[in-house]
Amino acid sequence: MQNSIPEKSIVVLVSGNGSNLQAIIDSISQQKIHGKVVAVFANKSDAYGLVRAEKANIPAIFINHKEFASREEYDNEMMQRIDKYAPDLIVLAGFMRILTPQFVAHYQGKMLNIHPSLLPKYKGLDTHQRAIDAGDVEHGASVHFVTAELDGGPVVLQSKVPIFASQNADELAQRVQQQERQMYPLVISWFCADRLKMLNNHAELDGQILDEMGYAVN
Ligand code: GAR
Repeated sequence: MQNSIPEKSIVVLVSGNGSNLQAIIDSISQQKIHGKVVAVFANKSDAYGLVRAEKANIPAIFINHKEFASREEYDNEMMQRIDKYAPDLIVLAGFMRILTPQFVAHYQGKMLNIHPSLLPKYKGLDTHQRAIDAGDVEHGASVHFVTAELDGGPVVLQSKVPIFASQNADELAQRVQQQERQMYPLVISWFCADRLKMLNNHAELDGQILDEMGYAVN
């Protein structure tokens, strides 16, 4: 069935290491995603994600925010450069920059983010330390559609990990990121197979509206 629909063009935005980007590239080469990463954009010149893109022969583009007078101008430039690739899907993979409402509206229903917490818990930064400090016994990551509310769009999938008493935030982050590298390609594969949509601020998989914690909560 997958081959009867056109392959999706994916643009990935990164700020750092790009291990999620790598998982997506690898899943595509294993034919688990019916899509192609057509460009990778970064807001940091030293983002290792740019190197990963180059190694995979994907255009790697750094846009320096210091060259723009405002957030709006930066995001406008990003949009123009991204749209040259005519993407079907924008994937935020550790892109650590707040997006303008214009940017978010422009890609409404076709932009996904991965966030290192069990949303709606711990929006924003330092999620691993905050989960430890709160005495939580479990933590995890969420993939969600991006809407105007920071880390607040409809959740598609969550993955949980236990928090052990002896664990520090770095160890917990590593455990969460192992899950991220499994779950993000899976969600992207659903989108690229036309199984996943955002409708009326809900995520819908195979025609079923997903509840606020997304698919397959366990
Ligand atoms: C990931 O853990 C991702 O969840 C997080 O940044 C890391 C990027 O890792 N994203 C956010 O915190 C977004 N608010 P990577 O560069 O190795 O993919």
